[in-house]
Amino acid sequence: MEEEEQPTGGPHFVGKKDELIKAKRSFRTIEGRDILIIHQQGAFYALDSYCYHAGGALQNGDIEELNGKLCIICPKHKYKISLTEGEGLYKATDPRENPPVARWFSKGVKQRTHMVTETDGEVHVTLSQNPGWVESDFYQGEKGKEERAKAEEADKAKS
Ligand code: FES
Repeated sequence: MEEEEQPTGGPHFVGKKDELIKAKRSFRTIEGRDILIIHQQGAFYALDSYCYHAGGALQNGDIEELNGKLCIICPKHKYKISLTEGEGLYKATDPRENPPVARWFSKGVKQRTHMVTETDGEVHVTLSQNPGWVESDFYQGEKGKEERAKAEEADKAKS
């Protein structure tokens, strides 16, 4: 009897280091999951490719350092996501403060991030094995795919 291939998480080869550095952002599908690999300020990061908020394509987002953390800014509604932890960050003021000062707050981990390793000029990604639900998981599933397709259609109709 043939055994079905089980998802392992990896490590999966995703490219040569110099190619990924040149590309800066690379899209890969690993075990059916769409992943964005980013090279920024000398380090690699990997995270789910679609924004946890409404499935925006993070591949086209700007990267900025916010509150000491490198973050990708979703091009769709400008949500900020830290590259290392996948934390959702937002800036807000406390109206009880006088005068109110805007500060950064965390919504917790919203975007699934993955481990990147380099060996002999080759880069590998190991998928996160965190068994808990992370909001970006939704846009990797069938329902999320449908939602993304609907949103794309709506955007096309607007333009
Ligand atoms: S889809 Fe990313 S901020 Fe809304």
